[in-house]
Amino acid sequence: MFRLRRYRYYVFFAAIVVFLLYRVAQNSEQWEAVSASFPHAAPPPKLKPPPTSKTGADSQVDTSLKGISSKDDDLPQRILDNSGKDSSPGKDSLKAEIPDLKNTQQAEDEDDAADFEPPPKSDIAIKEAGVLAYDHDEAAKATTAPVINVPDKNVGKGAMDAENNPVKTAIHWKKVPEHFPVPESEIIPLPTEKPKKIPTIQFAFGKESAENRELREARQQQVKAEMERGWAGYWKYARGHDELSPVSKKYRDPFCGWAATLVDSLDTLWIMGMEEEFKEALLEVEKIDFTIGKRPEIPVFETTIRYLGGLIAAYDVSGGKSGGYDILLEKALELAEILMGVFDTPNRMPVLYYNWKPSFASQPRRAPTNAGVAELGSLAMEFTRLAQITKENKYYDAVARITDAFYEWQESGTSIPGIFPEQVDASGCNRTAQNELEAAQSAADIEAYDETDSNNSLDAGAAGEDNELDFESDVKAKSQPDRLDKAESSVLKRSRKSSALNLNVVKKKNPKTGKVELIAGERILPECVSQGLTSGGWGAEQYSMGGSQDSTYEYFPKQWLLLGGLEPKYKELHLKVSEAVKKWLLFRPMVPDNRDILFSAKITTSGEPETDAKWQYEVTHLTCFVGGMFAMGGKIFEVPADVEIGKKLTEGCVWAYESTPTGIMPEGAHVLPCPDAKNCHWNQTLYEQTLDPAFESRDEQVEEYRERKAKAKAAVEKARMEKQNAQDLRSSTGKTGRPNKSTPDEKPLEDSPVDHNNARVGKRAPVGLEDDTMESRPVKNKKAPALDDDLEDSDPVPGFKKSTISQVPLQDDEDTDEDDPLRPLSHKEWVANKIESEKLPKGFVNVNWRSYILRPEAIESVWYMYRITGDKKWQDEGWKMFEAIVRHTTTEVGSSAIDNVLSTNPKQSDEMESFWTAETLKYFYLLYSEPNLISLDQWVLNTEAHPFKRPKSSFGV
Ligand SMILES: *[C@@H]1O[C@H](CO)[C@@H](O)[C@H](O)[C@H]1NC(C)=O
Ligand SMILES: *[C@@H]1O[C@H](CO)[C@@H](O)[C@H](O)[C@H]1NC(C)=O
Ligand SMILES: *[C@@H]1O[C@H](CO)[C@@H](O)[C@H](O)[C@H]1NC(C)=O
Ligand SMILES: *[C@@H]1O[C@H](CO)[C@@H](O)[C@H](O)[C@H]1NC(C)=O
Repeated sequence: MFRLRRYRYYVFFAAIVVFLLYRVAQNSEQWEAVSASFPHAAPPPKLKPPPTSKTGADSQVDTSLKGISSKDDDLPQRILDNSGKDSSPGKDSLKAEIPDLKNTQQAEDEDDAADFEPPPKSDIAIKEAGVLAYDHDEAAKATTAPVINVPDKNVGKGAMDAENNPVKTAIHWKKVPEHFPVPESEIIPLPTEKPKKIPTIQFAFGKESAENRELREARQQQVKAEMERGWAGYWKYARGHDELSPVSKKYRDPFCGWAATLVDSLDTLWIMGMEEEFKEALLEVEKIDFTIGKRPEIPVFETTIRYLGGLIAAYDVSGGKSGGYDILLEKALELAEILMGVFDTPNRMPVLYYNWKPSFASQPRRAPTNAGVAELGSLAMEFTRLAQITKENKYYDAVARITDAFYEWQESGTSIPGIFPEQVDASGCNRTAQNELEAAQSAADIEAYDETDSNNSLDAGAAGEDNELDFESDVKAKSQPDRLDKAESSVLKRSRKSSALNLNVVKKKNPKTGKVELIAGERILPECVSQGLTSGGWGAEQYSMGGSQDSTYEYFPKQWLLLGGLEPKYKELHLKVSEAVKKWLLFRPMVPDNRDILFSAKITTSGEPETDAKWQYEVTHLTCFVGGMFAMGGKIFEVPADVEIGKKLTEGCVWAYESTPTGIMPEGAHVLPCPDAKNCHWNQTLYEQTLDPAFESRDEQVEEYRERKAKAKAAVEKARMEKQNAQDLRSSTGKTGRPNKSTPDEKPLEDSPVDHNNARVGKRAPVGLEDDTMESRPVKNKKAPALDDDLEDSDPVPGFKKSTISQVPLQDDEDTDEDDPLRPLSHKEWVANKIESEKLPKGFVNVNWRSYILRPEAIESVWYMYRITGDKKWQDEGWKMFEAIVRHTTTEVGSSAIDNVLSTNPKQSDEMESFWTAETLKYFYLLYSEPNLISLDQWVLNTEAHPFKRPKSSFGV
C-alpha cells in the first residue's frame, strides 16, 4: 500500500547528476559514447530519510510535496555520516569520458590481432558477442558496455501534481529490444504441482443473531454511502484523472494520469455491488492508453500495486475469463509489457523509476544502488498473478529472480539477520571491490609511467574468482616510489587473477614505425564486479517494518499463498522475518492505562547491532499493517504465538487512534518503551523526564534565577529604605516581608493547569516537526504582547539549559513569580508547557507527523483480526475509527486528508488518494460484510487491497 509513496525525496544535487546524465545521453547518438565510468560514480546521495524523522507537521508544503518535508533535520547528520563512511563521496561522480568513436571503430578491426574483447558498440554488438548477461557473474565479466546507473530516484517528482508541474510533451512508449534477455531455457517457470493444503485462515463463523446482523448491515451501508459519495465526486470532477481534489473539486495527476483512482477502485465497486458504476468505469478503462504519459519516469512500485494490481483484481473478482470483462486483462497486459522493460538489467533486478522514453529505455542500464526494500520486493504478487492468468512464465521469472536475490541475501546475512536494511544496492556491482581494483590500477599506472616507452600491453588476465586485493599495500606503493617494483608485481599478479579486469583500447605511438596506433593493452577497470543484493546508500542502516520496507515483508506470506504453498522460499523468508522482528523490533509502550499492546520500532545500526543499535520507538500509521501480517502468518504457518502478537500490534494502533482529539492516529509519532515489557506500569515521572531531556538542570536554573532576583530585589529595597529613612517617611517594613510564593514545581502536574495568558506558554506555538532528540523551540506567537518580543531576545529559550539570565527585572512588587516572564521554567512547567503547546496526547513522547491522509493500514489489520479471530470487538473498534474518520475528512464531494489529528478542528488538505476508495473503504466494508465475501481462504490481497484469487487446493479449504 503506497507505503513509500510519500517518502520520495529529491535532492538538488542529485537532480544535477540526472541532468548531466541526460545531457551526456543526449549528446551521444550511440550509447557507447556514454562513459564506462558511470558505475564508479558515487551513488546518488542517500537522502531518503525515514518517514517519521523527516516528516513535518504536514503543513501545506508537506502535502503538496506528498509528505516530503523540506525540513529534514536528519539531513546534516546524514551528510556527515555519509562522508564518514564512504571515503569518496562525489568523487568521479560526474566523470563522463567520451571515448573517441572513430578510434574505437578502428580498434574493432584489430580485434583478433589484439586478442581482446573490445567494449561492445551497441546492444547488437552485445548480442553478437554472445553476451546474455542476465546473471551476476556473466554480467560482471561480459558487460563492458557502459551500463548507466540511472539514479532514477531523482528523476521524478514523486507523486507531484502534473498540474503544478506540467510536462510539455507526452511520452510515447515503444517497445525496445532487450539488452539482457533471459534465455528461453532459463526462464523460471511457475510451480505447476497441485497446490498444497494450507491451514484455514478465517474463523469458523457461525450463524449470527438478527440483532448483530442488523447492526452490521447498517454499518456496512454507511460505508457504502461513503464510497458512493466519493465515487460520484471523482466521476463528476476528476473522471479519467488520477485523483479527485475533494475540497476544490478539481483533479490531480500524480500517477502518470492513467486514471489511478478509477483503476484502483474497480474491484471495490464490484465488491460493494455497484455494478452500474463498475460497467461505466470500464468504458473509461478502455480509453486509457498506457503507452502515453506525461511523467518522464514511471514509478514502478506504485504503478504495479495500483494499476496492475487493480486491473488484475478487477478481472479476478468479476469472474476472470468467464466474467467476460476481457478489457481488464488486455489493459493489464498492455501495462505489463511496458513495465517488463524495467527488468532489462544485467542482473535482472528492476529499475524502479523507469525512464520510459524510448531514447532512454533503449539504453542499457543497471538497477539502482539505493532502492527502497519495499519497492524492490513488492512487485511479486502482481506479476505472479498475471503469469498465472496468462500462463506466461516470463512475468513470474521477472519477480522470482528478485525473491531469489532476497532469499540469498537473507541466507548470507544482514546486520540484523532475517530482515533487510531500508536501502538496497540492487545494481549487482560491488563498489568496494571496484575501488580496490582502482587503487591497484593507480599503482600500476605509476609503474607504467616510470618505464621508458612502456611496454604495457598486459596480459588480459586469466579468469579467476579471486578478486582479493591488498588495498593497503597498493596505497603504500603509491606513496613510496622505491617500493614500486614490488607493488607492481603484486598488482599484476593479482590483476591477472581478476576476472573483472578488461583491456582498454588506447592511442599509442608505435616506437618502431613512429605512427600512432591503437593498442589494446591498457587495463581499464571493470564495469562491474558482481555481487548480489546488499546494503545500499551511505551511512548507517535502518531496519523497520515501516514505510519503504513494509510491503516486501507483507508479500512473503501472501506470495506463498498465491503460489499455493509450492514455493518454500517464501515460508522461510517469512519465518526468519518474524523471528527477527520479535527479537529486535517489537516493544511494549508505556501507556497511561497500562494496556498490553505492541509496536514495531526502527533500528539504526552501523553494522554491529549488538553494540551499536539505536532504537526509535516509533508509531507510524504505515506500520499498522504488521498486525495483520503477523496474525495471518501465524495461521498459515501454524505459529499461534504470532496470531497473539498480531492482535497486540493491532491493538497498538487502536490505542493510537483512541488517544488523539480527533480519534485518528497520526502518520508518525514516538512513544516510550516500558522498561520491563512483562511488568509495565505507567510512570509519570519517567514520562515527564523523557519529554524533557534537560530535566536535571531545569530546576537548578530556576533556583539560581530566584537567588539572583532576590539579591537584586534586596538591593533595591535597601536603597529605597535608605531613601525613605532619610526622608523620614512612614515605616515600610510591611512591604518587604512579602512571603515567598509557592512554586509550581511543588504541585503535581494535574493541579497546575497551564495558564494560557502566561507569556511563556503563549510563545510556544505547536512545533510541527520535531526530531526525537530535538528540543521544542518557542515560536513567536503573534498574539503575545509586545513586551514578549523584547524578552524573547534576551531569553530565547525559556527554561532551556543554556539560557542565560542576562537581566533581572526590577519590577513592581505586586508582580508575582509566576508572572515573571524571565524566570526559567521548572521541569514540571516545561513539561506542562510542551504538552499544552504541542497538544501531546498522554503517552506520546512526540507526534512529529500529524496528518492523516486516509490511509488504510490500521483498519486493514483490524479486518484481518476480525476475520481470523471472529471476535466482534474488532468490528466495534473499526467503527470508532470509521466514525472519527468520517467526522473529520468528509467534504461535499468526497473525503480529504487532514493536516493535524491533534487538533479538534483539523484542516482538510484537499487530497483524496486513490487508496481511500481502493483500500480504506474496502476494508471497512469487508469488516461489516458476511465473512465469506472475499474470504481470506479464497483470496489474497495485494498491498493495495486488491484481491487475487488463490489457487484452489484439491482439499478445498
Ligand atoms: C564486495 O567486495 C569486497 C572486497 O572484495 C568483499 O569483501 C565483499 O564481500 C563484497 N561484497 C559483496 C556483497 O559481495
Ligand atoms: C613487450 O613485452 C613483450 C612480452 O612481454 C615482449 O615480447 C616485447 O619484446 C616487449 N617489448 C618491448 C618494446 O619491451
Ligand atoms: C519512575 O521513573 C523514575 C525515573 O526513571 C524512577 O526513578 C522511579 O523509580 C520510577 N518509579 C517506579 C515506580 O518505577
Ligand atoms: C524567600 O526566599 C528567599 C530565597 O529562597 C529566602 O532567602 C527568603 O528568606 C525567603 N523569605 C521568606 C519570607 O520565606
